[in-house]
Amino acid sequence: MDETLTIVDNRTKQTYTIPIYRGTIRATDLRQIKTGADDFGLMTYDPAYMNTASCQSNITFLDGDKGILRYRGYPIEVLAENCTFLEVAHLLLRRELPTEQQLEGWTHEVMRHTFLHENVKKFMDGFNYDAHPMGILISTVAALSTYYPDAKNVHDQQIRKRQIRRLIGKLPTLAAYAFRHSKGWPYVYPDADLGYTRNFMNMLWRRTEPKFIGSPILARALEVLFILHADHEQNCSTSTMRMVGSSNADPFSATAAAMCALSGPLHGDANEKVLHMLDEIECKENVPAYIKKIKDGKGKLMGFGHRVYKNYDPRARIIKWAADQVFAETGRNTKIDIALELERIALEDDYFVSRKLYPNVDFYSGIIYQAVGFKPEMFTVLFAIPRTVGWLAQWNEMLSDPEQKIARPRQVWTGHEVREYVAIEKRDKTKVAAD
Ligand code: ACO
Repeated sequence: MDETLTIVDNRTKQTYTIPIYRGTIRATDLRQIKTGADDFGLMTYDPAYMNTASCQSNITFLDGDKGILRYRGYPIEVLAENCTFLEVAHLLLRRELPTEQQLEGWTHEVMRHTFLHENVKKFMDGFNYDAHPMGILISTVAALSTYYPDAKNVHDQQIRKRQIRRLIGKLPTLAAYAFRHSKGWPYVYPDADLGYTRNFMNMLWRRTEPKFIGSPILARALEVLFILHADHEQNCSTSTMRMVGSSNADPFSATAAAMCALSGPLHGDANEKVLHMLDEIECKENVPAYIKKIKDGKGKLMGFGHRVYKNYDPRARIIKWAADQVFAETGRNTKIDIALELERIALEDDYFVSRKLYPNVDFYSGIIYQAVGFKPEMFTVLFAIPRTVGWLAQWNEMLSDPEQKIARPRQVWTGHEVREYVAIEKRDKTKVAAD
């Protein structure tokens, strides 16, 4: 097959042939298409990156039409069923699932970084008791760059490796401290013997007992949720990580920026918003009226729709299964019944069917988090912990890619041509300034 594209510029009648590589053309190949020597050359215009590949990657594959998600070639369903979160983190960051011996070494390398500098606690104490834990997490992750100034040597592989382990190790500690700060409870130090997820639960919920021993079913549900959230290709926060990282900013700053992107309600904060929506609906009987409100353009059904999935989000399917396990343990929560009814009605309704709007990962995750014992304010924090693995894998890949440079999109200029300066006393007083 001839892997080229022939373009005829009807302005000049010139013909151009450009190569096609893995279903893409290079946007810079279009720059040769000009109307004259002064012409800058053709660009692509793609607000919100609807059809632009910004990198080559071999970390996460997803096919939104078919509802497929794979990390390094392994289907997400298989990983969620068989692996621990740290095994999956090893796969994403180090390209392969670990052997038993490798896992032991990797777990040690991550867990030895779970401690925080004592001053970080003082930093956290500065926040109000009702500060949103996501705001605390973002600020504290950014502040970590001041503790590890070597992190800015991003082209040194060994230093990069160390920061990756630091970040993955410290995230649960920061998240747990942010939670305990809101409660006014004393912080609980990490306990490496418990492993990644159980240590996190211990730091969150230990009171007077020597170690918090939670239900193994709830611990596994949390582990599965961590696996499902670990990476998701070039989404908004991951692209932010790559964008900020492309300026060679240190990984703590880049991760804090990615977390800022995640904190928006159209992205990682949707799980918190789903819970508020379910509270607002109150009971199953109110679902049809709520759906009507959405169809009338009054808001969005949170946890529904996805830029890439135009089919059932495979993560939502696994989460639904995990919800059944959790509710068998904790007793059924009325929210799950409202959610199931919302899904049932929406998936039969032409508004949602014609727009290919299906439940996404956030639709059921919040219900599980709540059943496990978290308040909605913690949901996005719980998303950020595992996603840090994905962000770092993508950041590392970006820095190792010789084609990547500082990210710098172009614009289509719609403003004035050059204007003549007017002195302040002569400016038009009737003109209303834009806000
Ligand atoms: N409820 C109602 N209508 C919706 C929803 C929704 N949740 N999502 C999209 N639509 C409608 C839009 O209004 C639009 O309708 P129109 O064609 O009549 O104008 C159509 O479906 C297409 O939607 P877009 O906004 O163009 O889709 P886009 O790809 O830009 O947005 C997004 C994707 C942001 C996820 C969107 O579906 C949404 O806002 N969902 C709710 C928030 C949410 O759950 N976010 C979490 C996503 S998963 C994650 O980030 C982890």
